[in-house]
Amino acid sequence: MSKNHLRLGVNIDHVATIRNARGGRHPDPVRAARMAQQAGADGITAHLREDRRHIADSDIERLVKDIELPLNFEMAATPEMLAIALRHKPHAACIVPEKREERTTEGGLDAVGQHNHLKSYVSELSAAGIRVSLFIAADSTQLDAARHLGVPVVELHTGAYCEAAIDHPGGVEERRELDRLVKAAAHAHRIGLECHAGHGLTYDTVAPIAAIPTLVELNIGHFLVGEAIFGGFDSTIRRMRALMDKARADASGERSA
Ligand code: PXP
Repeated sequence: MSKNHLRLGVNIDHVATIRNARGGRHPDPVRAARMAQQAGADGITAHLREDRRHIADSDIERLVKDIELPLNFEMAATPEMLAIALRHKPHAACIVPEKREERTTEGGLDAVGQHNHLKSYVSELSAAGIRVSLFIAADSTQLDAARHLGVPVVELHTGAYCEAAIDHPGGVEERRELDRLVKAAAHAHRIGLECHAGHGLTYDTVAPIAAIPTLVELNIGHFLVGEAIFGGFDSTIRRMRALMDKARADASGERSA
């Protein structure tokens, strides 16, 4: 693999969102993780939310057991999530905000204001050999705070850039948000942090982000799962049509035999 390779972490949360809309087992996020592996993903990302709105505890167990790719476990800094991470020891844990008071106005984790709260989580996860990252806004103050907390990795929140790019493509706001990400990725590199990015990335917004040379990994989920409806719906319906036609033909063959 080239030194320039940009890792793709596929977030399978929203496969579980669809499954949970009905209960039951279909569609299975672990099956999606296997497909992602075959399709060229470098890692699997899953977020166990406090309210279990998509990924379930049993999904995490199965992902750890069945998937060979490194698992990036997105988690809030709570005792419950810490215990789950320490039990499963995923390759990586990305601490993300769950409650409003944990986040900055840009949507990332407030590594400055939450320093004291985050410190013990970072130490316990790191001591267990888990590579810890913080999901933060593209802001040098937040990056410096992450550095002080001793994490090896940060993930830059690309949500504001993606929103600007979709609402006003080519506009000043998109340019400003992209510049902030470019500068933040350079700053992270300068202060010795491995830099990832994600949130809201699509076919239309990924290229300028993927071109930032010091980024090492992108984590993408919602768009991939949503777009699969269009990219993969056609072949799914064709297969269903063929199964129905075959069953009819077989049954009428039986009757006429
Ligand atoms: N990175 C982090 C830290 C996230 O919390 C999320 C959303 O769960 C993503 C990446 C993926 O974002 P999206 O689903 O919008 O692609």
